[in-house]
Amino acid sequence: MFTDTHCHLYKEYYEDIDKIITNAKECHVNRMLNNGCNITSNQEVLDLAKKYNNIYAALGIHPESVDTYKEEDLLFISDHLNEGKVIGIGEIGLDYHYTKANKEQQIKLFESQLRIAEDYNLPVIIHSRDATIDTINTLKKFHVKGVIHSFSGSKETALIYIKMGFLLGINGVITFKNSKLKETIKDIPLEHIILETDSPYLTPEPYRGKRNEPARILDIAKFISDLKGISLEDLATITNNNIKRIFDI
Ligand code: NI
Repeated sequence: MFTDTHCHLYKEYYEDIDKIITNAKECHVNRMLNNGCNITSNQEVLDLAKKYNNIYAALGIHPESVDTYKEEDLLFISDHLNEGKVIGIGEIGLDYHYTKANKEQQIKLFESQLRIAEDYNLPVIIHSRDATIDTINTLKKFHVKGVIHSFSGSKETALIYIKMGFLLGINGVITFKNSKLKETIKDIPLEHIILETDSPYLTPEPYRGKRNEPARILDIAKFISDLKGISLEDLATITNNNIKRIFDI
């Protein structure tokens, strides 16, 4: 049994969530952690977690929403943390890929949500793109644990996050032919790794370019079990134990 620790199951991407869950089950993916990005998706994430017993919820405002979110969207998060199966704050973080011009605002939004996580003792799911140093420095100001989602950095960066108590979320990027991630992950003990799809994005090879879905965890797992020379069963056991160290799942 595998867990997809990071997906975005929203109506705008998937017409038929029942089918997506059936596909996942057929591929031994029995649990999903659905991540919100803004006020609309946070509400959807809550609704799905109530409807399906194997979908868990994380609430958060993504850095790409930094220019449009309102203060009340943060209140919505803290107001709904006690509802069933909300197990983390995410997807939150810093993204300087398109612009650094709003980095002060991004850090402010990030810190507001790290404070919520600290106050409620919940793990965080971190998005960090072209912002490694600021992400590390911001995280260090808080007592939080969690996951570096879609980790694709160097071995040196991986070891810093691991030392800070974070897990590395590994997805289809590791299967991409031009990715150096497989070299990095070869050297990282499996005790620090969990699996994710980031559906509908980052579809693994050989399906790259198509819409992703949680069932594709199995393709990512096969790639990593080959890379690490262990069985799929052992990989499932280790990664599920890792999840339990961080998440109340
Ligand atoms: Ni994501």
